[in-house]
Amino acid sequence: MNVEGQHYRTIWLKESDPRCVQIIDQRFLPHEFVIEDLTTVAQVAAAIREMHVRGAGLIGATAAFGMYLATLETSGDCLSWAAADLKATRPTAVNLAWAVDRQLQAIARGESSAEKTAIALATAKQIVDEDADYCRRIGVHGQRLIQRISRKKKGAPVNILTHCNAGWLAFVDYGSATAPVYAAHDHGLAVHVWVDETRPRSQGAKLTAWELGRHGVPHTLIADNTGGHLMQHGMVDLVIVGTDRTTFTGDVANKIGTYLKALAAKDNKVPFYVALPSSSFDWAMRDGLAEIPIEERGSEEVKYADGWRDGVRAEVLVAPQSSAAANYGFDVTPRRLITGLITERGICKANERSILALFPEQGGAR
Ligand code: MRU
Repeated sequence: MNVEGQHYRTIWLKESDPRCVQIIDQRFLPHEFVIEDLTTVAQVAAAIREMHVRGAGLIGATAAFGMYLATLETSGDCLSWAAADLKATRPTAVNLAWAVDRQLQAIARGESSAEKTAIALATAKQIVDEDADYCRRIGVHGQRLIQRISRKKKGAPVNILTHCNAGWLAFVDYGSATAPVYAAHDHGLAVHVWVDETRPRSQGAKLTAWELGRHGVPHTLIADNTGGHLMQHGMVDLVIVGTDRTTFTGDVANKIGTYLKALAAKDNKVPFYVALPSSSFDWAMRDGLAEIPIEERGSEEVKYADGWRDGVRAEVLVAPQSSAAANYGFDVTPRRLITGLITERGICKANERSILALFPEQGGAR
């Protein structure tokens, strides 16, 4: 996506030094645009764990480059240490283990360490190019949903609610939930996005609002508890969110609070779509509520709020220091509350039969 007229992806190889991976350090957005160099597996693991990069697609892409750096750090014979370190960073986004395992399988085909490094780099580049292409294609399929509503509204703005950041900052480019919005906007359709602030880390307020603003897409920031009220008053035509892990039966894990939006959407007959590249399906999980690991992060993220004052990043204590706080990062929306899934291959129902019809190669094992 464009930043100050220059096209950026969220992760890339430093032009002058192919042993250095560069990322946009998202902790400093929206008020500072900071590029960070990563040259070791330990730095990559820290960048994922401490959320310099976040979002399922980008976590996978970053881990893929982490495995490439691992082949530079060791001879490439034993990479299980790097794989374990990277996989241990965050539990919910399936793209992390998917990317690490894809690299392990590919690198194992290499004979010499130079060959293993070359394969690791090529595979990392494949994973990031695929991620960008799949998101672009999600935009093409998802745009049709918006077009249909726009026609019904005789061209009046289509009001779309989204939660967290499932934008280009959560992937390599385009985003998942935002890709249909960008595609519709770029094709001249009037759209407006309700952006949930998404406490406790405010990915909506900081990241989604920033990227929509950069692209000129009309949007309004709302407190997380506002969406239900807007739906009751007919001010939301469509909900589109992302996912960190979706079972092959259609249960969806996403940022905490997504389930509550799905309940409100169901109660108010508002279409609720989940956008995802196939790298976010867990083809081994059937029951999302019982099986998907939910990340718990530090209580300080709930008790404090961070922002900028006089151009400096600052954290303020909101709650009494003595109060306990729980910080679940994700929840599971059961498939019965989901209208459909928007994938790179098209739109399907959130059920096993419809998903496997779109991805028949995944049906074999069942
Ligand atoms: O904790 P985060 O910022 O990594 O959570 C991100 C989300 O929940 C996104 O909605 C999700 O990753 C889907 S977009 C890849």
